[in-house]
Amino acid sequence: MAPAQGGDAAAATTAAATTGGGGAAAPAPAGGLPPPAAATTAADGASSSSPTFDLGGGEVLPVPADVAPLFRPLTLGPFRLSNRIVYAPLTRMRAQGFVPQPIMATYYGQRAVPGTLFISEATNISEEALGYMNSPGVFTREQTEAWRPVVAAVRGRGAVFFCQLWHCGRASHSDLQPGGAAPISSSTRRITSPEYTVFTQNGAQPYPSPRAATREDIARIVQQYAAAAKAAVHDAGFDGVEIHGANGYLIDQFIKDSINDRTDEYGGSIENRCRFCLEVVAAVAAAVGPERVGLRLSPFTSFLDAHDSTPYATHTYLLEKLNGLGLAYIHMVEPRIMGPLEVESHPESLAPFRRVYKGVFIAAGGFKADSGARALAQGEADLVAYGRWYLANPDLHRRFLTHAPLNKYHRDTFYSSGPEGYIDYPTLAQQREREAIAA
Ligand SMILES: Cc1cc2nc3c(=O)[nH]c(=O)nc-3n(C[C@H](O)[C@H](O)[C@H](O)COP(=O)(O)O)c2cc1C
Repeated sequence: MAPAQGGDAAAATTAAATTGGGGAAAPAPAGGLPPPAAATTAADGASSSSPTFDLGGGEVLPVPADVAPLFRPLTLGPFRLSNRIVYAPLTRMRAQGFVPQPIMATYYGQRAVPGTLFISEATNISEEALGYMNSPGVFTREQTEAWRPVVAAVRGRGAVFFCQLWHCGRASHSDLQPGGAAPISSSTRRITSPEYTVFTQNGAQPYPSPRAATREDIARIVQQYAAAAKAAVHDAGFDGVEIHGANGYLIDQFIKDSINDRTDEYGGSIENRCRFCLEVVAAVAAAVGPERVGLRLSPFTSFLDAHDSTPYATHTYLLEKLNGLGLAYIHMVEPRIMGPLEVESHPESLAPFRRVYKGVFIAAGGFKADSGARALAQGEADLVAYGRWYLANPDLHRRFLTHAPLNKYHRDTFYSSGPEGYIDYPTLAQQREREAIAA
């Protein structure tokens, strides 16, 4: 992944415009509930008349039958969602110096639809969590203050916004660590696959050997998660947090046995490898309330060399432990996805996990309108997260509702700096305007 380079002052004016009007960035516990669901479909999916969907701004569109499962409401803890489309967490590296920038308010605000769940890009919980240049943090006052207009741009439009809490663990470099220390992990095993490199202020480099966390390190990091959750909800104004337990980052580095070779109570058995994750979940739930906490897991991904020899057994154990904690949701990545990439052959399935977990279940990875609606109709998930198509289509809901073609996404600007490939993907209306001018 290439890091963003350079600044982005041009965005400031646009962002200021999008953060006005509503600006509901007040601390969530004091009254952070979104407005009632905007969908007029019946809660059980049966509707007495033709269902419609409220896109916000006074626009109500009919819901075609084939995509109807995507436009049904759902109660998520204290939140009432109007639809089943989720904005997936997407690192975009536009947070220069690890501080959210005004352009991010424009970006998220362009995509916000009332009653939709948004999960922020992965957000660092502490200085030692850092692994990617220009990814945002939520551990300094400057960062939480800078998040507020971004959060307001989403919540002000009636969407629900969770902050994804991130610790990169070994997916980092001493150039990015306080005091130039080695990054931390469950073990000293490093990322060796040549396709992975870490970008720092000194350019692209191979991943270094991490140091294995001591018990004291573990206790400190668990507290950092809790502190970051409080900062996200109480200071930045997010509705809740999603713990990033997926894609080969620190929590996954404890869960998966290709990385975790510990011989203490945090390694070895499935129970021991899941202990760190469960301690983080407990601490974060205690900090902001379990109904404001989600957890993302990727049982099958090998992204960043994270493999587990028994993914079903490991994650079934974890889900059984999570059952009954009253979390907002569990968010799982489909086996066809490896981090931001697709894999060709994927015989595995999330179905067993869906059966084990008793709460709200989000599935992510490779969905379009038809496959997402089908997954919901067949009970494979309660919510479907969209990543690449949502980043390229600011009006994704409208396009699904009208069967409009989707803008293609451009990989070369996924992690670049500046507005290009970020806030300039056109809406349908903008496309038509351009076509009319060109005609
Ligand atoms: C540009 C990009 C950035 C991503 N950043 C994150 C991230 O910050 N956190 C995360 O959990 N997953 C991240 N992912 C994975 C996505 O959330 C999602 O699981 C993946 O793109 C598959 O979904 P899709 O097929 O709808 O794109 C990223 C993916 C892409 C393409």
